[in-house]
Amino acid sequence: MTLYMNLSQPIPNFTPFPADFIWGVAASSFQIEGAAKQGGRGPSIWDDFCKQPEAIADGSNGDVACDHYHLWESDLDIIFDLGLNAYRFSVAWSRVQPEGFGAWNEEGLAFYDRLIDGLIKRGIQPHLTLNHWDLPSGLQAKGGWKNRETVDHFVAYAKKIAARFGDRVISIATHNEPWVQTILGHETGIFAPGIKNRATAMQVSHHLLLSHGLALQALRAQGCKSQLGIVLNLAPMHPVSNSAADVAKAKIEDGRLLRWFMDPMFKACYPQDILEFLGDDAPKVQAGDMQTIATSMDFLGVNYYSRSLVSSDPDWSLKQTGCELTDMGWEVYPQGLTELLVRLNRDYKIPPISITENGAAFPDQMTHGRVHDRERTLYIANHIAAMQAAMKQGVVITSYMVWSLLDNFEWASGYAKRFGIVYVDYETQKRVLKDSALWYRDFVQSQKIIREVSSHLHDKSLLVK
Ligand code: FCB
Repeated sequence: MTLYMNLSQPIPNFTPFPADFIWGVAASSFQIEGAAKQGGRGPSIWDDFCKQPEAIADGSNGDVACDHYHLWESDLDIIFDLGLNAYRFSVAWSRVQPEGFGAWNEEGLAFYDRLIDGLIKRGIQPHLTLNHWDLPSGLQAKGGWKNRETVDHFVAYAKKIAARFGDRVISIATHNEPWVQTILGHETGIFAPGIKNRATAMQVSHHLLLSHGLALQALRAQGCKSQLGIVLNLAPMHPVSNSAADVAKAKIEDGRLLRWFMDPMFKACYPQDILEFLGDDAPKVQAGDMQTIATSMDFLGVNYYSRSLVSSDPDWSLKQTGCELTDMGWEVYPQGLTELLVRLNRDYKIPPISITENGAAFPDQMTHGRVHDRERTLYIANHIAAMQAAMKQGVVITSYMVWSLLDNFEWASGYAKRFGIVYVDYETQKRVLKDSALWYRDFVQSQKIIREVSSHLHDKSLLVK
């Protein structure tokens, strides 16, 4: 595996970000909370998926994870000590409504009350995601996202959460990465619920999008003050060559990843070429659905990790290119973030963008109580620079969140892949700030200092007469 070859490359230079720019970290319920059977939590599709043989690389599960359910206060202290402005977290639906329908679990709701109040007390903005993949098993038993009734259950859940927390959370995102839930969850089946059926997958995607639009309308109708949006995983899709076959495949993959989700939300239609590509596997759409999906949003969350290189040759592999790879085998390609953001701004009438996830897994080593993860620092710094390049080209971006605060349960990769800027010793649950966390802290601090200095410069009383 080729990692960052040139660790001595300098950290890029930044010009000052807008004074109200938000710097944060992100995490999700299933990946960190643990306490899977405590506090009245019901099972989710990820609890079930972990039980399937070979589903998770290291055979692990989310039963304990980072034990954030119990350690949340000291975890929030870490965010505070890093001087960050925001924390993006998700609510575990089955913790607040064990079956996904029917009775609510007050103990679960109270956990998020404490978490949100704890953030506010520390001056950290809470940003909430409703669905970060952990659908309650009770709903999967009724067909999961394939069943149109799940849409109504999701809207009821969204209303409950917004009624309870909407006075305190800055933003509410309906779904995290519907492409992943659609394709990895239902077409390739490498993620929960592990279904391998393209027609099912596309129906799921439609229901995710529909539930997003209906939830936005319901929350607005009930007077929710939080900013409302969705989080997509997006990437430029580059053919590996100019051959007609590679170019055509890249266009289809771009359609399936980006246009399949962006077009309905911003143009009220599915892309025609992908509908034709899917043929009979295209979803069943009812009258009025597309207009509902296109309900306006206050922000668009973008998760960016890498570009995608596409080849029509099944034997082609990214490894043969010799490019820089992270521990996930994903190419390090910061300039793809600029390209993506500029394109979104050009092709769609988008609301302000939030970079809701960006980060990298590297094989961290703890030496003498320190983790010298120069690769991760470079990765984050180079992506912040790429984001700033897009801002200079007119893209409105309001926040940036590192994925992730803590090393955590990385889905089918289990605990083997570490994305945190904070190292977790899973034996002891001890947290250790990696060098990347220290760099991020200093970077955010330097931005604050620049702000203070420049605001003083605008204070005329300070000007030398
Ligand atoms: C994203 C997920 C997040 C995390 C990162 C590495 O696709 O939203 O939960 O696993 O990838």
